[in-house]
Amino acid sequence: MRLVLIGAPGSGKGTQANRLESELAVPHISTGDLLRAAVKADTPLGQKAKKVMDAGQLVSDDIMLDILEERLGAGDVANGFILDGYPRTLAQADALKSLLQRLQQPLDAVVEMQVPHEAIVARTRKRFEAEGRSDDNPDTVRKRLDVFAEQTAPVVDFYRQRGELETVDGVGTLSEVCGRILAVLPSTRNNKATA
Ligand code: AP5
Ligand code: MG
Repeated sequence: MRLVLIGAPGSGKGTQANRLESELAVPHISTGDLLRAAVKADTPLGQKAKKVMDAGQLVSDDIMLDILEERLGAGDVANGFILDGYPRTLAQADALKSLLQRLQQPLDAVVEMQVPHEAIVARTRKRFEAEGRSDDNPDTVRKRLDVFAEQTAPVVDFYRQRGELETVDGVGTLSEVCGRILAVLPSTRNNKATA
């Protein structure tokens, strides 16, 4: 299963991808987590990315494609992946399409998680207080939501227009939301049976 989860910041992509990882027996690839690991390791990329992330802006398409290509080159993606946080721009959607065409591994599903802004603000505020993720401060969340509307909503439309998009309600218990995602995936039962 090659799956893209797409949705606004705080819509629950990472949370659901973690659950789906065992359901679908494919790795969860979060570009945000890869960047946070680089920040933590204080690599040159991490130092550059930190400034951009703390401003709620997007890291450049070129850098993100390098990171993604390297990750998709690892052996554990042979049976697929759950991509969380990529693509976020139309250029990234094009790059992903070309990359997967080259690997002869087209996407099986793109699932959009819809969550109202007020729920996102409440979720990220709670996490900011509990964990202190720096880009969860309310000002940066507002910026991240603007960036989503400007740069990532067109990606959602791109998949919708191609008839490749499934949309699920991201509000509810974690199991409810997970069940909704599984219900829209193609032949989930086969995937589980052969995993
Ligand atoms: P990234 O790490 O991808 O962050 P994001 O998608 O903006 O935001 P979140 O991770 O908060 O959202 P999520 O949908 O994963 O929600 P989560 O499950 O965590 O990116 C961070 C930054 O890196 C970007 O701003 C950018 O700078 C850079 N970046 C990353 N990818 C990039 C790319 N491709 N191109 C350019 N730049 C890139 O849930 C949020 C909270 O809600 C959690 O506390 C969770 O416990 C809670 N929650 C989850 N589900 C529920 C539920 N059903 N009910 C109640 N609470 C819930
Ligand atoms: Mg996330």
